Amino acid sequence: MSHPAPEHASATLSARADDGDAIEIASGVHWIGAFDPGLRSFDMILHTANGTTYNAYAVRGSDGVAVIDTVKAEFADDFFGRLEQVARLDDIRVIVLNHLEPDHTGALPELLRRAPQARLIISKRAPAMLKALLKPTAEPFDYEVVDTGDEIGLGDRRLRFLHTPFLHWPDTQCTYLAEQQVLFSGDVFGCHHCDPRLFNDRVGDFRFSFDYYYAHIMRPFKVHVCDALKLIEPLPLRLIAPAHGPILRERPRRYLARYRELSSSGEHFDQPFDANHPFVSLIIFYLSAYGSTTRMAEAVRAGAESVPGLRVSLYDLEGGEVAPFVDLIEEADALAFGSPTVNGDAVKPIWDLLSSLAGISLRGKIGAAFGSYGWSGEAVPMIEDRLRGLKMRVPVSGLRLKLRPTAAELDTCRAFGRQIAEAMTGPASNPVSAERVIDFADLSP
Ligand code: FEO
Repeated sequence: MSHPAPEHASATLSARADDGDAIEIASGVHWIGAFDPGLRSFDMILHTANGTTYNAYAVRGSDGVAVIDTVKAEFADDFFGRLEQVARLDDIRVIVLNHLEPDHTGALPELLRRAPQARLIISKRAPAMLKALLKPTAEPFDYEVVDTGDEIGLGDRRLRFLHTPFLHWPDTQCTYLAEQQVLFSGDVFGCHHCDPRLFNDRVGDFRFSFDYYYAHIMRPFKVHVCDALKLIEPLPLRLIAPAHGPILRERPRRYLARYRELSSSGEHFDQPFDANHPFVSLIIFYLSAYGSTTRMAEAVRAGAESVPGLRVSLYDLEGGEVAPFVDLIEEADALAFGSPTVNGDAVKPIWDLLSSLAGISLRGKIGAAFGSYGWSGEAVPMIEDRLRGLKMRVPVSGLRLKLRPTAAELDTCRAFGRQIAEAMTGPASNPVSAERVIDFADLSP
């Protein structure tokens, strides 16, 4: 475990109120960001119960200053006020952008105007995004791209780069100040938690904010989180300086461990099917008005269970509680949804469940839909469209039938379940069947 270095003792509770001061976080390294305590939602979807911070940093070396990230445009004055306390603008040699989202690049155009001599450093995935970001300025700009292992010297200090894409945009990277073992991590290890005491050993309890941020920002990219951890975990670390929320100087490795823990759940489900693998899982969710879709669901389950090597689970969504299922869904290999059609639509708990899945990756999982209907039966194709929109594969076309299923129709439901199971256990190129609609007329002798 790493522990705070003696130099941290210089940061005191005098920084509790936002007095506009730059705050030294390590020798020659200053926080020059901004506090946004009034923010109550971020990117329109995240609750920010006590606001957020936009963290930017200035690193002084014997050959000049590096600025790492900027702030949201509305807070540019705070940023420049702090920057100019610790550096003259013509001292700035390097501007590093760990991430180009506007909450970190809002002050960039003005910084480029004020410090035109600075080299602009971005990740190898960032150029197109940078051009799009700066095109309204209509001013020429130059930049350099870096990759994992590249370094930039500031005289007696070096900044080393780690390519960590999708944390949380494709362009993201981390920057490591080797001499002082400081990781400027960008969004990763951050959280929306505004407390001007700034350091993790001084702010209020932010564990909820940390986990909530992970769940909504990083969880969809957990494969990339694991890749990034492989780069970060071997580094000696005295301090993690993220782009939002508290600076992690007390036991920084516990936050790596928390990310490792959060990102490793369900890891085994990403593995290809293996007949001996106990975790190939199909979950069937359904609702039923008069029992017909329930009978279909039970028959679909029976059909799927006839294929060896599957674990099949059946859940009735009546009652509308969907949150407990999100983890199960993330870990499943295939999902089937059974819904009656009511007023030309699937029923609300199905949509509630499907709309709660944006925070997890469903890409490549198998999806399927079925349901009983009275007149028109739109629910099944509507659910299938949504599953495709979530990047799921729908290799077995939906099954819908009118009102109460007959014995023959239940055989068809069992065959439907078996086809889903075979699509899970066989090659991904299993033939796609045409959509089937079973009407009473089709079954009449
Ligand atoms: Fe804090 Fe992805 O921006």
